[in-house]
This record gives sequence, C-alpha cells and structure tokens, in this order.
Amino acid sequence: MKINSRGRNPTGKTWHFAERVGPHLEGDVALLLPNVQFIYELALAQLELSAFGYEFLVENSLRRIRVWGGDSERFCRRTAYFQYIGDKESVYSRIVAKNRTRSINQYLTHWIYPYKGKFHPQMIRALLNIMGLSEGETVLDPFVGSGTLALEAQLLGINSVCFDISPLCVLQTKVKTESVRFLDEIKGAWQDVQKEANKLLRGNRERDTLDLIRSFDPGPVQDFYMMGFLVAISDTERRRKSFIQAFLKNISLMISSLEDYRELIREEKLQLGTIRVSEGDARALPLADESVDGILTSPPYSIALDYVANDAHALRFMGKDTTEFRNSVIGVRGRGDERVHLYNQDMREALGEMSRVLKPGRYASLVIGNATYQGKVINTVDFVIREAEKRGLSLIRNIDKIIFGLYNVMQRENILIFVKGG
Ligand SMILES: C[S@@+](CC[C@H](N)C(=O)[O-])C[C@H]1O[C@@H](n2cnc3c(N)ncnc32)[C@H](O)[C@@H]1O
Repeated sequence: MKINSRGRNPTGKTWHFAERVGPHLEGDVALLLPNVQFIYELALAQLELSAFGYEFLVENSLRRIRVWGGDSERFCRRTAYFQYIGDKESVYSRIVAKNRTRSINQYLTHWIYPYKGKFHPQMIRALLNIMGLSEGETVLDPFVGSGTLALEAQLLGINSVCFDISPLCVLQTKVKTESVRFLDEIKGAWQDVQKEANKLLRGNRERDTLDLIRSFDPGPVQDFYMMGFLVAISDTERRRKSFIQAFLKNISLMISSLEDYRELIREEKLQLGTIRVSEGDARALPLADESVDGILTSPPYSIALDYVANDAHALRFMGKDTTEFRNSVIGVRGRGDERVHLYNQDMREALGEMSRVLKPGRYASLVIGNATYQGKVINTVDFVIREAEKRGLSLIRNIDKIIFGLYNVMQRENILIFVKGG
C-alpha cells in the first residue's frame, strides 16, 4: 500500500490518495453517488472527507473510498458527493430523489425558472462543507443569480445573506426558499386561480393573468404566482407554447415541488437556515466589516453573458427599464473594449467588498471562467486571483472544472478558494 500526502485543505487537515488498497483494511467504505463522474468532483469529495476529520484511501475503482476517524453521523447528514458511508445512506441521496424534472441537479425548487449560468447545486453543498460552515453561521452570495446558494445553505441550516442587482434574481431566490413556509396559503390561492382558469383559457391573455396575480396581497403568495407567470412567459418565448397552458402546468409543478420540500423537511427533521435576500450592488454591500463567516459566489464571467438581454422580457414585466438597468450590471456596462475595462474596475470594487465583510481566517470561494471576446481569450481567472490577493485574500485552491452541458460555448471554469489573511 502506498500513500501520497497532498498538503492542506481549507480546514488545515492532511488528505491522502492511495494507489493500492488491500481488502483487509479497517474502516468504512464511503461510496460516491452514481452521478459523480468528473475529476474535479473526486477532488471536492476528498476535500469534503478531510473537512469532517476523515483519514481515507481511494480504492482503484475511484468510486469506493476507505474512510476512518471521522464523524459519520454528521457526515451522513451533510455530504454532497457520497451515497453511503458504511451501511448508512446519506441525506443528500434522498434529497436528490425529490425531483420533478429530468435533470439530476434540478431537485426540489432548483428547477424553477430557466436561468442561464446556474451553479451546480451539489458542488455548492460540497463547498459549504469544505469551507467549514456550520449550522447557524452566515454565508454571503453577492451575485446570487437564481438562488442556488440560498437553497443549498437553507438545506444545511446555514444562514445566508444574498444580493443581486436584478429584481428577477431576488424573486427567484425568495420563491425557491421562502414559499415552502406558505404552502397552505399558496394552495388556497390555487383554488381561486383554477376557478378563473376557463375564463383565462378562453382569453389566453397574459394581461388577465397578471391582473389576477396582482389582486393577491403583496408577499410570498403573490411572489409565487408572479414567478409561475414569468416561467410561463419564458416557456412561451422559447418553446412557442400556449401561455395559459404553460402557466397552469408550471404552477401545478411548482406546488408539487413545494410539497416534496415540505415532506423532506418533515422526514429528515431539517432545521432550515434563514435567508436575507435583496436587490443590491456587489460593489457597495450594506454589511458591516468582518460580519460574514464565508463567501460562496460566481460573479459574471467578464463580458461572456448579457444578463439583461437574456431576461429582458421578464424584467420588462417586472417594470424594469432595461436601458437604464444596464448601467449597473457588471459585464454588461459600456460598449466595445470599454466593457472589459469597466468589468475590471467593477470587479476590483466587488473583491474589495468581499474582503472587507469576511471574517479573518475564513474562506471565500469564487467560481469563474475565462471569456472570449472577438476571438481573443480574456483571462478573467488570473485577473480575479491577482486582484483578490492584493485585497488580502490568499489563494489556497484552484480547481479546474468542466462546464458540462455548455461544452461548445465555454469549456472550463475554475473553483478558486481563498482564505482571508493567512
Ligand atoms: C454568474 S451569475 C450568478 C449565478 C448564480 N451563481 C446561480 O446559481 O444562479 C452572476 C450574477 O451577477 C449579477 N450581477 C451583475 N452585476 C451585479 C452587481 N453590480 N451587483 C450584484 N449582482 C450583479 C447578475 O444579475 C447575475 O445574476
């Protein structure tokens, strides 16, 4: 048997890789979930084990890992990459089964709204573990997008504070995390909507549906139906479906996902984390110095995606003037070469804010990729590393990651883990 030591993980523990393992070794076998396929996932799975105090040896199959010395009770509740530890099934393995879509990572409410550039939720759960975030601590996502971090933190009992410049992102984040507490009220309103359904179907007019939604009191119920409305708008735009049929089908599916979530909370006795989400600018965070226990985020990848154009239709329905809005969206501001210059300036400010609000000795993980502009690669990854280090964040991990599904457009991104100070 041969063991190679591979240095420190963010929790300061050593991890090992075994080339050969004898069948006689003691300890439990930890089995990776069947969807775990990539090298970066194996790397994160190993960091997860270290974060929970395990010593381990990876067997030749790469899917079975011999583990010993860790807290298996806690690990079973929190792991993202393992299906079994010994004969105990992980909670995550049951979470992913609560899925109304064909996509393995769109379980519970993650699927609601087809936002471009969503995080992979399993990776986020793992990173929360690797960064050593415990129940009751607070994690920040200053670019929360579709709310992936908020939902994953909520599931682990970690509190989150989230911002996005876009009201559409704030709405998605709220609905995915908050609606489960208002399921009975949402179902009550669904009866009213169904009573009106025939009238709505005859007219098939977006305006009538919007008027009905606006007749609900402002708050979680109205937010839920507004989200269903925007999902239907997006379906109609992209797939040329009948609007009202798409709306009714989506609402029914969204309610089923909330029922799944409520059942999961009961079955697993989950203590959910709290979420504070609001429209806000990552360049000027309304947070005190050294007030968060971790940061996990994905900023715009230079000028790669036009977040305003992608969601212009939905933003207009939310009453947003998209021309003016462009001036505050990072990566979208300006024209031609000026856009890259403005992006760099904005990211310096955003990194300064992240460093200011993070507690010393804690971790900030940024997922980011290079972009291509007029055939030239813009090296956003190196730029972010350099600028973060200037602001007191030291890089301790740089994990190369495939972007599965977007392989023709963007092939890779990086998971950068920084520690403040150090
Ligand atoms: C890569 S996406 C985040 C995706 C997210 N991780 C998810 O899972 O959906 C980047 C986000 O940054 C937001 N953004 C752009 N400029 C911003 C700013 N000045 N302040 C806060 N958020 C901003 C965009 O609206 C977009 O949602």
